[in-house]
Amino acid sequence: MSNYNIKHLEEYFKVYRKSVREPEVFWEEIAEEHFLWRKKWDNVLSWDFKKPEIKWYAGAKLNITENCIDRHLRTRGEKTAILFEPNNPNEKAEHITYNQLSKKVNQFANVLKDQGIKKGDRVCIYLPMIPELVISLLACARIGAIHSVVFAGFSSTALSTRINDSDCKIVITSDGSYRGRKTINLKEIVDEGLEVCKGVHTVLVVKRINSEIKMLKGRDKWLQPLLNNASDECEPEIMDSEDALFILYTSGSTGKPKGMVHTIAGYMVYTAYTFKNMFQYKEEDVYWCTADIGWITGHSYIVYGPLANGATTVMFEGIPSFPDYGRFWKIIEKHKINQFYTAPTAIRAFAKQNLKFVENYNLSSLKVIGSVGEPINEEAWHWYNDNIGKKKSPIIDTWWQTETGGIMISPIPYVTPTIPTYATLPFIGIQPALMDDEGNELIGNQVEGKLCVKFPWPSIARTIWGNHRRYKETYFSTFRNKYFTGDGALRDATGYYRITGRVDDVIIVSGHNLGTAPIEDAINEHPAVAESAIVGIPHDIKGNALYGYVILKEIGESRNHENLRKEINQIITEHIGPIAKLEKVQFLSGLPKTRSGKIMRRILRKIANNDVNNLGDTSTLLNPEIVKEIIQGVM
Ligand code: PRX
Repeated sequence: MSNYNIKHLEEYFKVYRKSVREPEVFWEEIAEEHFLWRKKWDNVLSWDFKKPEIKWYAGAKLNITENCIDRHLRTRGEKTAILFEPNNPNEKAEHITYNQLSKKVNQFANVLKDQGIKKGDRVCIYLPMIPELVISLLACARIGAIHSVVFAGFSSTALSTRINDSDCKIVITSDGSYRGRKTINLKEIVDEGLEVCKGVHTVLVVKRINSEIKMLKGRDKWLQPLLNNASDECEPEIMDSEDALFILYTSGSTGKPKGMVHTIAGYMVYTAYTFKNMFQYKEEDVYWCTADIGWITGHSYIVYGPLANGATTVMFEGIPSFPDYGRFWKIIEKHKINQFYTAPTAIRAFAKQNLKFVENYNLSSLKVIGSVGEPINEEAWHWYNDNIGKKKSPIIDTWWQTETGGIMISPIPYVTPTIPTYATLPFIGIQPALMDDEGNELIGNQVEGKLCVKFPWPSIARTIWGNHRRYKETYFSTFRNKYFTGDGALRDATGYYRITGRVDDVIIVSGHNLGTAPIEDAINEHPAVAESAIVGIPHDIKGNALYGYVILKEIGESRNHENLRKEINQIITEHIGPIAKLEKVQFLSGLPKTRSGKIMRRILRKIANNDVNNLGDTSTLLNPEIVKEIIQGVM
């Protein structure tokens, strides 16, 4: 990729132009130069956003683990691939070299095979941030099984919905996990979830916290003894470029979570190429992304992107506040981290703490600092720039999505001049478009609209598992012949992009995408609740918090509202997870509805945000009197 490592702005524009004028030539050169193919492609790209159908590198054969592991062994065998920093700061960090990773992945792959897992089977992974998580992803990829990682903070119901949706045969989990001073009994959550998952025949259990757990005979197996007996050689399954690599669920504004399907070759090429450029990674660097591998950021920029580059990637099991708010900075000092990638919600939490937590540590190894997951507000940007980047390491504010697979709009460090809160310029090959509500593309600068992408890039998700129609409706039907992101954005006078936030009913809380519908469905399960509606309100650490309007079945329900609030949050925790708990709950006699029965969320949003003088026309409501009641409740 040496030809296309972007080092200065003119080069960026030059390469960008090439990538847009001759996308196939460009992406062919990138694919040629740096990857190991068992067979080259017949065709670089074929696409039709109307169907929609997108294929990159069709006809090529490869295995992504040969690219992430095997081809590094000759030159980097003894280099640390994974640097594991445990939750407990007194526990020793573990360095797993590429040679060791190779053996561990092969052993795990052989265990999966012994359990009857074959190419194309779905494997659910529900693990904390321990090395077995990365190893299990790669073991699946080695044998052509499709991994579906479920974030280990999700509840048993959320887990079982995902297991059933993609018909997983096996679950990989651990006895439990550490989270600061707490432990969580993951296996219990799995047991509960599996009560409704009849297709799962095997559960492999990693021992992490040494807790007493129940093992169901015939189904549950400790992983370690199986690994001990497995060979550390496993021939990679030779895969087609467009075979599925993984499924990862993301929330939609309605309905159940969407299992986004990413395919092998395009995803590999794009995550590797973006990683190299976005982090300006050099051979000796130590790179740390603080995300959980349960999310796309972890898939693309802890596992696949870094390993495809032969990088040293840190994985951290703990939380930012344990044993105190100096932990991240201590890790940076200890491992001399060069590139650090985190989320605005974490930055805002740090900014609230005493600066001594930062000042105690030497952060001079840092060269690039990144942000991802939600818009970074100006105050947080400056705090990050002043105290972590020390005004010398550029901040890359990277905009992208589970669906995009890799970073789409972002400054390239030391190349693109940054401006607080601006994701700045599209990455090489990315063609954004801003659209007005009538479906016209807004041409020129100083415009604001809905953010679309008008040309495919290699790592775009190819479908929603089991529901191609929903894929089409969600992403390709709002605007003709364009991929619609669900975000709003503006383009300033210089052509820089600033993401303004979601324009649908997805609310980002602490960087987690939450659809309103599943939360409302959970609340409505409470026997006293008739109906509910959720909106977002600003929160100074989480970015957004959830505000719930709840209608009780019996008006004037005599039960203590405080208890009801607790019960509602309990139900949400059980159905989705604690991340979806409501910050505030307002009980009401009704919701504002249009004559066709649709909830007017715009009004609810404005009232919850104290913007009551600007409600617009409420006379078309079926029940305009309700507005007054809602306002009184908020005041
Ligand atoms: O609204 C955008 C926001 O996060 C959404 C995607 O969330 P998810 O699929 O969970 O992936 C998050 C990690 C890639 C986007 O539609 N978002 C992500 N990054 C940014 C952002 N909003 C503003 N600025 C960002 N840098």
